[in-house]
Amino acid sequence: MSLPAPLLPAAEAAALIQHGQTLGLSGFTLAGDPKATARALAARARAEHAAGRPFQIGLVSGASTGQSVDGELALADAIAWRTPFQSNKHLRAAINAGRTRFFDMHLSSLPQQCRYGFLGKFDWAIIEASDLTPDGKLVPTTSVGASPTFAGVADRIIVELNRFHPPALRGLHDIYEPADPPHRQPIPLTDCETRIGLPYIQLDPAKIAAIVETNEPDETAAFSPSSETTQRIAGHVADFLAAELRAGRIPREFLPLQVGLGNTANAVLAALGENPAIPPFRMFTEVIQDSVISLLRSGRCPFATGTSLRVSPDVLREMYAELDFFKARLLLRPQEITNHPELIRRLGLIAINTALEVDLFGNVNSTHVMGRDMMNGIGGSGDFTRNAYLSIFITPSVAKAGAISPIVPLVSHVDHNEHSVQIIITDQGIADLRGKSPAERARLILENCAHPDFRADLHGYYDRLAEGHTPSTLTAAYAMHERYLRTKDMHGVDWATLPGFR
Ligand code: COA
Repeated sequence: MSLPAPLLPAAEAAALIQHGQTLGLSGFTLAGDPKATARALAARARAEHAAGRPFQIGLVSGASTGQSVDGELALADAIAWRTPFQSNKHLRAAINAGRTRFFDMHLSSLPQQCRYGFLGKFDWAIIEASDLTPDGKLVPTTSVGASPTFAGVADRIIVELNRFHPPALRGLHDIYEPADPPHRQPIPLTDCETRIGLPYIQLDPAKIAAIVETNEPDETAAFSPSSETTQRIAGHVADFLAAELRAGRIPREFLPLQVGLGNTANAVLAALGENPAIPPFRMFTEVIQDSVISLLRSGRCPFATGTSLRVSPDVLREMYAELDFFKARLLLRPQEITNHPELIRRLGLIAINTALEVDLFGNVNSTHVMGRDMMNGIGGSGDFTRNAYLSIFITPSVAKAGAISPIVPLVSHVDHNEHSVQIIITDQGIADLRGKSPAERARLILENCAHPDFRADLHGYYDRLAEGHTPSTLTAAYAMHERYLRTKDMHGVDWATLPGFR
C-alpha cells in the first residue's frame, strides 16, 4: 500500500529536527515510543556537540519512555527540558544534577495544556504506528498517551511504522479528544467498555514529513516477582476492600479499579485477583501491567481500559498470538480520557497507588527522595487520588534494607495531601483515615502501618509534640531524614536534644 510521505532512514528523519525545537513523542511507561528516530537524534546531538555546536531539544511525551528515547537522549545531553514523567536512570541523573529542566505534571492535564499553548509551540510530533493509511489514519501501537494531541498541535509529523506490531491492532484503541472551553461537552462515557471515538488517530497527511520503518519490541522489562512484603500488603488491601463490601460501602457489583505503577502495585493487583473475597472487577486505569493480562485470561477481570499496555516482552508476544481474545476485553484510550477527573468521579474508581513516603497525618510523597531528588514524577497518581471513590496508598513499611522508614513525621515533599488520601496500607496493616482528626490519624498510622523497628523513633517524635490541631514541631520534623542523609540510617534520632521540644 502507498504511504502518505517518503520512507526515510531514521538518521535522515532525525536530521530534519533542529536545535531548540520542541518534540511531542508517543510513548507511555515505555510502551509505544519511537525508538529508532530517538536513537538517531541522540547520535545527531553527539555529532553536533563534537563539532562544537549546541544541540538540545524540549521533550514531551505521554509519560516515561525507554532507554532508546529518554536514556540515549539524556546520555547525549540532548534534552534541555522534559515533561511530564520519566523513569530512566540516565535522565533522572541529568535532572537531579540540574542538566535537564524537568517539570512534573498531572498526566490528565498535559494534552489540554499543550492545546492551550501553555508549553509553547510544538515543532514535531513523532509517533509510533502499527499501521498508516495514505489518507493519514494512524493506528498506534501499545500506548495512546498524548499522541492525538501532539499530532494536532505539531507543525510536522514523523511516523515510526513499527512492523513488530501487527496492523490488526486496529480496534484496540479508542481515540477521543474533548473540545476546549468554552465548547467542551460532557465526555459521553458511563462505563469502562463503551467506545466513544475512532479506532485510529487522524493525521493531516500534509504535515507528515517522513516515515521511518522499524521492527523492534518495546524496551520493557519483566516485573520483580512478588515478595512476602507485597503479599502482606495485598492481603491487607483485599481484607480492607472485602470489609467495605460487607459494610455496604462498596456496592455488591463492585467498582472499577485503578492500580498504579511499579512492582508493588503489580504484585498487589495479582493477589487481589486471586482473593475469593473480592468479586470480579473491571479496570479503568492508566497502565495495564502483566497482572491485568492474567486476570483478563482467568475472567477475574472481564474488561480493562487504560492508556498504556506496559507488559513484559514475553507477555506481549503471547497476547499477539491471541489478539482477538484481548481486543474484546481491552481498550486503549488517550491519557486525557483514562485519567480524566470527570470520569474518575463518575465511575467511582477505587484507586490504589504507591507512596515513597507517608507522614503521620496522611500526606503522601510519591516523587522525591529525601525531599530533593526526583524519582519518576507524579504521573497519574494525583488525577486518581483526588477524584476516586476510595483513595488508597500502599507502601512497604521499610525501604533500603530497613534503613528508611517510609512512615515519617512530615513528608519531605507533598504530592497528595491529607485532604485527598483516605487509606494507608503497609505490610504491617491498615490505617483508615476517613473521618479522623490529624491526631487520630497519627496514632493509627503509627500503630498500624509503621514498622515495629521504627515505632520507638516515631513515638520519640510524636509523644513530645506540643498541642495544636495538627501537632508538629517544625524544627524536628525532618530529623529522621537529616539523620539518614548523614548516616545512611534513619534510626536513632536523639529527640530529647532537639530544639523545639519542651
Ligand atoms: N526514601 C528513599 N527511597 C525510597 C523510599 C523512601 N522513602 N521508599 C522507596 N524507596 C526506593 C526503593 O528502595 C527503591 O530503590 P532501589 O530500586 O534503589 O532499591 C525505589 O525507591 C523504588 O521502590 P520500589 O519499592 O521498587 O517501588 P515501586 O516499583 O513500587 O514504585 C514509586 C514506587 C512510588 C516509585 C512508583 O509507584 C511511582 O513512580 N509512583 C509515582 C507515579 C504513580 O503513582 N503513577 C501511577 C498512576 S497510574
